[in-house]
Amino acid sequence: METKLLKAGNEALIEASNLIKNGDIVAVPTETVYGIAGNAYDGEAIKKIFTAKGRPQDNPLIVHIASISELDEVAVSVPDDAYTLALKFWPGPLTMVLKKSQKVSPVTTAGLDSVGVRMPNDEFARELIIKSGVPFAAPSANISGKPSPTTAKAVYEDMVGRLPLIVDGGESMAGVESTVVSLLNETPIILRPGVITKADLEDALNKKVEISPAVIKGLKSDEKAESPGMKYKHYAPNANMYLLDGSFEKFKNYVKNKKCDGAYCLVFDGEEKEIDLPCITYGKENDGKSQAHGLFSALRKIDEVKAKTVYARCPKKDGISLAVFNRLIRASSFNLIEL
Ligand code: TXA
Ligand code: MG
Repeated sequence: METKLLKAGNEALIEASNLIKNGDIVAVPTETVYGIAGNAYDGEAIKKIFTAKGRPQDNPLIVHIASISELDEVAVSVPDDAYTLALKFWPGPLTMVLKKSQKVSPVTTAGLDSVGVRMPNDEFARELIIKSGVPFAAPSANISGKPSPTTAKAVYEDMVGRLPLIVDGGESMAGVESTVVSLLNETPIILRPGVITKADLEDALNKKVEISPAVIKGLKSDEKAESPGMKYKHYAPNANMYLLDGSFEKFKNYVKNKKCDGAYCLVFDGEEKEIDLPCITYGKENDGKSQAHGLFSALRKIDEVKAKTVYARCPKKDGISLAVFNRLIRASSFNLIEL
């Protein structure tokens, strides 16, 4: 299959919406990461997404809408909390898990009776929903297991030959995927952290929000996943990665004798000057936002330079940095070393 690249604009909008209307798929920009979009109501279209990504069949997709009024089309028994959060954070990087409506294809939700819904803060993405007349389901536009793409170039690397069109909307702003919060029970629970934090949600709802333990610890082999995506290997470069938790002094000490062919460090901006090994950087030490923005391109760079072993600096485990930690600990297959 030939894969076309078009800049976000009128021509791309017409081609992309025709593809969606005809039951085909297209890679589109969003403010978090790029996604592969298909008609959320059309199971056959959605199957093409699973095939293009090599995604496990039991991992549901997020449904993207362009206005709050569409919430009632894709979800039922929507609680007040959902409207409160929608008014506060949409359009933006927040996905709410709600009871699914009949209209959404069971292929989209992988057979679950719940559905993840969000309104993206990317004009092209929202115009595409309006122009094609249906919400689109979209997972991140990477091959399953690989880091999510934050540029059209990264999408192209993974998806060339696998889908007909990639729309280039520039670099994704947030850099990590949306916060996923389940509103199926009275107490909201964060299933995947993102740039909208637990504190942001608690402020908006004026009540306690929980974080699923799997966010930090992963799942034991016999444990049931609240969110199927928790089960799978994720964001992983080809190299063996170690996440080193401790001060920069201890980090420097740890990697001092580790120099060898293919050994790299993943560090915060500026720290590379003090390290003897080749380094890749992923944002400022005390700035979760810049870490989130830089993370996935740093993880892709690890593959580009053909690193074999990577020693990574560990971010904090709260605020936006929790989202970064959540991705890094998966990228390192839970190889967390306390220094
Ligand atoms: O920012 C984002 O959310 C991006 C852009 C493209 O919108 N999309 C994205 O999709 O990250 P994906 O498929 O890579 O991740 C969706 C996550 C998975 O971990 C999945 O298990 C979870 O959301 N999820 C989706 N529907 C769910 C549901 N009904 N219940 C629990 N978890 C759900
Ligand atoms: Mg993904």
